[in-house]
Amino acid sequence: MLFLRSRSLAALAVLHGLCFGQAHSAATLHWPDPQLDFLEDTLYSINSIGFLTENCDPRQNTTIAAQWLRLAYHDMSTHDATDGSGGLDASMIYELDRPQNVGIGMQQSLQDFVFFRTPYVGFADMIAMGVVMGVASCGGPIIPFRGGRVDAKVAGPATVPEPQQDLASHIASFNRQGFTQAEMIALVACGHTLGGVRRDDFPLIVDEKAPDGFGDFDGTAASRTSFDNAVVLEYLNGTTTNPLVASANVTARSDLRIFSSDGNSTMHRLASSNDFSETCKALLEQMINTVPKDVKLTDVIDPLENKVGSALLYTKNGSYVLQTNLRRLSVNPNRTVTLFWKERQTQGSLCPSTGCSVSSTRVSLDPPSFLGELRGIQKLSNYKFTTQIPLNASIAKFWFEVDEKDGSAPSIVDNDDGSGFEIDQDTVLFDPSRTTIVSEGFSGVFVIVVGVKDDILNAGGADAPHLTLESFEPGTQDFIAKIETVSLQRDTTHSPADGYTFFTGNISTGATAMHVHATVGGQKFTQYVVANDFMA
Ligand code: HEM
Ligand SMILES: *[C@@H]1O[C@H](CO)[C@@H](O)[C@H](O)[C@H]1NC(C)=O
Ligand SMILES: *[C@@H]1O[C@H](CO)[C@@H](O)[C@H](O)[C@H]1NC(C)=O
Ligand SMILES: *[C@@H]1O[C@H](CO)[C@@H](O)[C@H](O)[C@H]1NC(C)=O
Ligand SMILES: *[C@@H]1O[C@H](CO)[C@@H](O)[C@H](O)[C@H]1NC(C)=O
Ligand SMILES: *[C@@H]1O[C@H](CO)[C@@H](O)[C@H](O)[C@H]1NC(C)=O
Ligand SMILES: *[C@@H]1O[C@H](CO)[C@@H](O)[C@H](O)[C@H]1NC(C)=O
Ligand SMILES: *[C@@H]1O[C@H](CO)[C@@H](O)[C@H](O)[C@H]1NC(C)=O
Ligand SMILES: *[C@@H]1O[C@H](CO)[C@@H](O)[C@H](O)[C@H]1NC(C)=O
Repeated sequence: MLFLRSRSLAALAVLHGLCFGQAHSAATLHWPDPQLDFLEDTLYSINSIGFLTENCDPRQNTTIAAQWLRLAYHDMSTHDATDGSGGLDASMIYELDRPQNVGIGMQQSLQDFVFFRTPYVGFADMIAMGVVMGVASCGGPIIPFRGGRVDAKVAGPATVPEPQQDLASHIASFNRQGFTQAEMIALVACGHTLGGVRRDDFPLIVDEKAPDGFGDFDGTAASRTSFDNAVVLEYLNGTTTNPLVASANVTARSDLRIFSSDGNSTMHRLASSNDFSETCKALLEQMINTVPKDVKLTDVIDPLENKVGSALLYTKNGSYVLQTNLRRLSVNPNRTVTLFWKERQTQGSLCPSTGCSVSSTRVSLDPPSFLGELRGIQKLSNYKFTTQIPLNASIAKFWFEVDEKDGSAPSIVDNDDGSGFEIDQDTVLFDPSRTTIVSEGFSGVFVIVVGVKDDILNAGGADAPHLTLESFEPGTQDFIAKIETVSLQRDTTHSPADGYTFFTGNISTGATAMHVHATVGGQKFTQYVVANDFMA
């Protein structure tokens, strides 16, 4: 895929008072953390869902950002603050046929997110992230993002507010969702700065004269696709074309009833664009963080200064190969990054007490996502390591030393507990070098190969080893992820080598991740592997 970049992003960032080169969070990743790893990548590093909306891109006479924002609000609006039930939990996948969720945008948006789920990150997190991405891409504030939402297994109550309802029911409805009346007024304005009402969906609200059958919430060409307070200003100066204010159908004027419900005082406050932006940032953050009460969200996810990639350990021609990488937010051509590692078998002590060390084999400079760019990241430096490790030494852990070569002391990049990034893969290991892809027309299989260390295998005695692959496939048709388990068999094409015996099993190329589960010699092992690693 080609990831185009917006030339206007720098200008946007300046408009929003951001400053390039601002201080980044220096927190080190707790490793491994596949949830944080994926969410941080998707936010700042890999322009995946962000790519769809990065220029506030249009779709269906509206914008993708508008569709994503409406989806998130409708999904959240099942929340009941009195008992903490419901909230942003992707229950929408079971609620699409309700009249209150009419509109092609719902289905289209879910389709946008369906591939970006993992065993650790659900649909609900992607719906919430869509708000952060969409709003920022249209020039709105950057809303802090937390992860950890849990996907519902069933539909929630049908509690999305509708235009023909009266003010009292709207106030009650927002109260139930956890918003005061003033917050309701602002949140509706923050939502209705993007997009509009489609005649196809609401023929009794939008009349046939509306261009393209679409009644924009704010009318001026420049404000139509921008997250600004034109919806407020036009309402206050009486020029608004917002169908929910000015429709000939008086019953349908829900925005008018809501906006004027406190004598316009909230709307007057939102006439300040700063106030509008700050208010929307806070309320939209509250909206995406409205989750069922037993769900615990993560800390806010900021760009990580140091990020350790996955570590693969496998055997090749009489030695182990370790592959990993360290990502840094900034570029410094003079910087050196060294990987240190400690052997598992300490007999004979191959490594000095300071550890064995190896320099990075390759540095790639990668563009950030558009949101990463808005956060002031210009390029990400990716230091890649491939190193051989003697079979009889193996590896217990590794860490990095970063020297900026600017006179400052080199810094150590270590796991948050200071004990190194531990590797527990030499008993059961996913082997990317023996794993292959076999395509069969449009689909195919990954023929996955896993090595098991002979001395542990033999020590197992009568206990046969038990190995399975649990593959994860995003459900593209019904939005329900497919998790399948296959047993691994002795691999007849790869003979035992380097002290390992190989096992194999097939998973669909539709899988984006898998767990290798093994019980060998009475011990349990698990390794999480993502699709990029199958194809390494
Ligand atoms: C009383 C509360 C609300 C009512 C009655 C209401 C009603 C509507 C209606 C009738 C549409 C047109 C949908 C279509 O044509 O398919 C719409 C669109 C939209 N609503 Fe609301 N809404 C409410 C609150 C909110 C809130 C709180 C948000 C978000 C914070 C929001 C965000 C949006 C967005 C972004 C669109 C445009 C969708 C697009 O262009 O595809 N709405 N709303
Ligand atoms: C805009 O709406 C008109 C009328 O419904 C439709 O013919 C046209 O295809 C729409 N354009 C896009 C880009 O969706
Ligand atoms: C006005 O719009 C509402 C909401 O769509 C609808 O229930 C009502 O029937 C409409 N009234 C008229 C006169 O079209
Ligand atoms: C009303 O406000 C909009 C948005 O600021 C502005 O573009 C328009 O010129 C104003 N119209 C009048 C009549 O004041
Ligand atoms: C609020 O503003 C609207 C739009 O300008 C206006 O029609 C209405 O009369 C105002 N209401 C009050 C109470 O000021
Ligand atoms: C495998 O290792 C041996 C000895 O270490 C070396 O001579 C040989 O070239 C290697 N083969 C490959 C394919 O790397
Ligand atoms: C890299 O080192 C050279 C030579 O010491 C120095 O002139 C240059 O400013 C350094 N570059 C950076 C980005 O620190
Ligand atoms: C590991 O193997 C190397 C030769 O490949 C040998 O020199 C070394 O002594 C061995 N170390 C141990 C602890 O067996
Ligand atoms: C796995 O797929 C390969 C390639 O299509 C095939 O040869 C092999 O029989 C399959 N193995 C199993 C256990 O289905």
